[in-house]
Amino acid sequence: MSDRPHTPPADLVTPAATGNAAAFSAGTDNVFARVAGRYDRLCDIFSLFVHRIWKSRMAARIAALRAGTILDVASGTGHIPLRVQRIMRKRPGAAAPEKLLVTDLCPEMLAIARENLGDSDPWLEYAIMDAHRLDSVESGSVDLYSISFAMKICDRGPVLREAMRVLKPGGVFFCLEAARIPNGFLHAAYLKYMDWCLPVIGRIAANGDPAAYGYLLHGIHEFPSQTRFADELASHGFEDVRFENMTLGIVALHTARKPHGSRPAENP
Ligand SMILES: C[S@@+](CC[C@H](N)C(=O)[O-])C[C@H]1O[C@@H](n2cnc3c(N)ncnc32)[C@H](O)[C@@H]1O
Repeated sequence: MSDRPHTPPADLVTPAATGNAAAFSAGTDNVFARVAGRYDRLCDIFSLFVHRIWKSRMAARIAALRAGTILDVASGTGHIPLRVQRIMRKRPGAAAPEKLLVTDLCPEMLAIARENLGDSDPWLEYAIMDAHRLDSVESGSVDLYSISFAMKICDRGPVLREAMRVLKPGGVFFCLEAARIPNGFLHAAYLKYMDWCLPVIGRIAANGDPAAYGYLLHGIHEFPSQTRFADELASHGFEDVRFENMTLGIVALHTARKPHGSRPAENP
């Protein structure tokens, strides 16, 4: 775990300019609709099953906070909500959230999330939502915002502004994302390995659909380091910005808080 300075470096571009690491646009490529049925298997293959550990750790941290309203953005097939649900079911009497909103832009992914999570928990809700414009979510209505492995395929500036808008003052932000191994030599070796390995296994596992691993590879290369992303969070007004490296720093779990004193922003 690392405490970050709350003041971003002077050379950091304005929040509005923070970009899309994978150069992905859902409007021009429906790759997630194409791979929805194979998404879970692809995650296991691409990460050698380790994504399960990263996501379980994030879900445990989320469940421990006992937040009232949780918004999981870009939920995919529901990996984070599923783990939160499992934790609730294992702890009889544990206070479930008032609401856990499971959301994604891609209906095919969200349909699988709903199949996986079911409709028996009254606190689970499902909605199609674009992380860049959470129009149906009221300003200052969310206690905990979470996003895993989707920040790199989104425009970070608008996504972070929306996260800040929908959170209540004092609300918590969680983001699990690709990061940089602090040892530069190891990180370069890791990238070389991914450059070689992902296209080979990706071509087989994704039925020759290069987009299924292309965005991932691009995003891994271009997503800012954990310290840089922490500074971006601070530059968007988040406080108590921290990150925890996982598996040497291949990924990092970022957490931050909307300042207690902030007034809720208007809906756009
Ligand atoms: C790599 S998957 C991550 C899914 C899940 N959170 C996980 O950790 O396994 C990225 C997801 O983001 C969704 N997505 C892409 N662009 C989005 C956007 N602008 N708003 C909301 N979801 C988006 C995709 O449909 C996909 O389900």
